[in-house]
Amino acid sequence: EVEKLLDESDKTPQDKKLTQINGVLYPGILCTEETFKALESFEAREDDLMLVSYPKCGTTWSLNLLNDMVQTIYNKDPPNMIQILEFGAPDKYEKLNEEPAPRVLGTHLHYDNIPQSFFNKKVKLLVVFRNPKDTAVSFFHFYNKNPMLPNYSSWDTFFEDFIGGKVCWGSYFDHALAWNQHIDDDDVLIMTFEEMKEDLEAAVKKISEFYGFSMSDEQVHNVAEKGTFTAMKEKLNNIKNEFAQIFLRKGEVGDWKNHFSEAQSQEIDAKFEACLAGTKLGDMLKY
Ligand code: A3P
Repeated sequence: EVEKLLDESDKTPQDKKLTQINGVLYPGILCTEETFKALESFEAREDDLMLVSYPKCGTTWSLNLLNDMVQTIYNKDPPNMIQILEFGAPDKYEKLNEEPAPRVLGTHLHYDNIPQSFFNKKVKLLVVFRNPKDTAVSFFHFYNKNPMLPNYSSWDTFFEDFIGGKVCWGSYFDHALAWNQHIDDDDVLIMTFEEMKEDLEAAVKKISEFYGFSMSDEQVHNVAEKGTFTAMKEKLNNIKNEFAQIFLRKGEVGDWKNHFSEAQSQEIDAKFEACLAGTKLGDMLKY
């Protein structure tokens, strides 16, 4: 599936790589109006494990943890398709309808665009955030490495687009503002990249408890061990999938210091303060 998409992206001119759906930019090779329309009526299931993340906040990492938990407890492998709901052709939903439970799904969509069925069914949503500065740096490199996205010749230009919300999936700050309103909802667990980095085993335990899994300490330990940056990198090296490699770059907290000018740092701090100062999510994302 990915091979086909990469082939298509090779033939797409730089300036045609993005598409706009309802005023938000998306990678055109992965996201279409047709799929978005079909997604509106997607039927969630109560026992779905749903990950929600703004791009570059730790999607691959968290999906990896959820897949490993499901593998450990139910002995079930992830489906042979991209787990991000909004990617691909609309017929993917028929395949997902047939997928045995529990399904591990993910999305980068803004809170307002998550299919209503997830809320009606009270599906437990794991939401992963990361401090905006490292998210921006990671996104910049990703734009330049991912053949499905256009290139940016300079960090400065990307920074302007990031802060102005003119990047795929829209403004980081819009996503954060929306989730801050739902941080105490019953079926929501917000985790941060930084928290996972600091103590992965504790993070796995917290996620497993949120989903009501009874995992032994040894099982938690094993999932965390398989989820370290080094372990994930090694696994990818073994399967020799070059495209998948671009989702693992440095995996660190604080790489923004190697990219941001003092003025840029102040600008994003001011935006962060204006949007999130004194809020619960703002406190979680202090950097
Ligand atoms: P960097 O570009 O800062 O290295 P996403 O999966 O949402 O696209 O996010 C990708 C970011 O998560 C990349 O950040 C990547 O290196 C990091 N990442 C992926 N797996 C990780 C892991 N196991 N530990 C730490 N960081 C990880």
